[in-house]
Amino acid sequence: MCGIVGILGSKPVATDLVDALRRLEYRGYDSAGVATVENGHLERRRAEGKLRNLESRLLTEPLTGRTGIGHTRWATHGRPTERNAHPHMSAKVSVVHNGIIENFRELKAELTGKGHTFETDTDTEAVVHLVTEEMQGGRGPIDAVKAALGKLKGAFALGIIFAGEDDLMIAARQGSPLAIGHGRGEMYLGSDAIALAPFTDAITYLEEGDWAVMRRSGVEVFDRAGECVKRPLIKSVASSLLVDKGNHRHFMAKEIHEQPDVISHTLSNYIDMANGRVNFPDLGIDLTKISRVTISACGTAYYAGLVGKYWIERYARLPVEIDVASELRYREAPLPEGGLALFVSQSGETADTLATLRYARANGQRIASIVNVRTSTIARESDAVLPTLAGPEIGVASTKAFTCQLAALACLAIALGKARGTIDEALEQELVTALVEVPRLISSMLRDEEQFVELAQMLSKARDVLYLGRGSSYPLALEGALKLKEISYIHAEGYAAGELKHGPIALIDENVPVIVVAPEDDLLEKTVSNVQEVAARGGQIILISNANPDKIGCALAAHITAPKAHALTNPLIYAVPVQLLAYHTAVFMGTDVDQPRNLAKSVTVE
Ligand code: AGP
Repeated sequence: MCGIVGILGSKPVATDLVDALRRLEYRGYDSAGVATVENGHLERRRAEGKLRNLESRLLTEPLTGRTGIGHTRWATHGRPTERNAHPHMSAKVSVVHNGIIENFRELKAELTGKGHTFETDTDTEAVVHLVTEEMQGGRGPIDAVKAALGKLKGAFALGIIFAGEDDLMIAARQGSPLAIGHGRGEMYLGSDAIALAPFTDAITYLEEGDWAVMRRSGVEVFDRAGECVKRPLIKSVASSLLVDKGNHRHFMAKEIHEQPDVISHTLSNYIDMANGRVNFPDLGIDLTKISRVTISACGTAYYAGLVGKYWIERYARLPVEIDVASELRYREAPLPEGGLALFVSQSGETADTLATLRYARANGQRIASIVNVRTSTIARESDAVLPTLAGPEIGVASTKAFTCQLAALACLAIALGKARGTIDEALEQELVTALVEVPRLISSMLRDEEQFVELAQMLSKARDVLYLGRGSSYPLALEGALKLKEISYIHAEGYAAGELKHGPIALIDENVPVIVVAPEDDLLEKTVSNVQEVAARGGQIILISNANPDKIGCALAAHITAPKAHALTNPLIYAVPVQLLAYHTAVFMGTDVDQPRNLAKSVTVE
């Protein structure tokens, strides 16, 4: 994840750009840069490392332009050097970018063939040359960007300025957040409202697929189809301390929508995007010598671990034992010689998980943890930490942390498989490519949110709701049930679909919605027969699948279409519909979505 800012100012902007970048350093800080329009041409200053290095550069080589963009970087493509630092530019265009351009290699080859010279290893530079190429073909800046956006694939946010254009900035949002600030004769652009807090609290948030033409007099916003649209101008409550809800009613909604961005950020910590390889940090643990992995966690984090079990066993051929922390710590499970104990926790402070970590350490295990709070107790007591980079998760019901945990677990499974020789280069490329597509596929799911509002009304009337899944979709059934019950207070249970006939099917009648998490994989056929068993007893079936509903062979109360994805990545994709189902049901029922009754964000007591 990176931080983007832009200012159409009434005075030189370089200092304000750097101040705004300072408020975005939480998004990444391995290099930074600014670019401005100086007497009609583009100038830039960049520096490796902390923001103070850029400030020093600007002291010795000042910029005086009133139109400028800035960027603080978390390297995804290319090492964190000055050469790879943003803004990237040609003589005509300067660009700052957050996210992943999936098809940058193809674009780079095509544009190089047209005579463009690439100076960096970044995916961003492909955007620079693409827009430049369009302008060289005779298009003006706005049409050039519109044409270029149609050729980009991935989840990203962009800020763009142009030589000779002192009163123009173009912004685009596809999967990564962007906020536009309205000033007095000035306009601002930022990755979030926190960056813009000192300039204005009048904010317009771009929505998925939007792009915007900004001038000092105001902004025109266009949707993906190029139609001019109105986006609400809201009063932000962001300050450098207070996390902001954005234009969402609840933190949970904002955090569901942040998933493309934060999953990209988490993946970029483990994947060398430029070469499509897993680039795992040295854990100080010899992955080839691990005899067994023991996973333990609580609640949603436990369900993430359960998905991890399926992946590690399937791709690394390594046995995995898993249990909820509150059980594992008391059943005195014998732990193997040379075993790795892996703990998953958003807060890194959950008492049961921490106690089990200490039990595992006392029993000779190497300790690794997947946490969202790097400074947490669980992180500090681990031999190795695999951070999720979800940013602060305020909603008590975990959403973005869950999918970031899955992203880290998927990369761990691949790293284990590579170390143990069960994953060759071809399979690694296949799996990494699938992971890199996840932010875009999740963005596509988030664009179709209206259907969940209608389904919420149906679910809100239910006394009991069942969730079914097989294979790595089974933990998603458990997670979906937890999401629904913890924020709407409706009783819900998740089951392995094959278990239904061993008792739970007695619950089925026309008052029981059954939510089936069933991607079109090698288990679909088996799940279909479970669905038909439910239909035969009048159950109301809500199918979540990329499969054609005709394949199910019975009436459905609803079909939520998921994008087709690799078997590895289905759990990340299918997390979104179960989150949105729970969220909209709770909103319809009027419960306290962000702080449900009886719960706490971090259970630090046993
Ligand atoms: C999930 O929505 C709940 N808030 C809860 O189950 C949570 O996942 C569990 O308490 C574990 O918390 P942790 O990830 O901070 O350890």
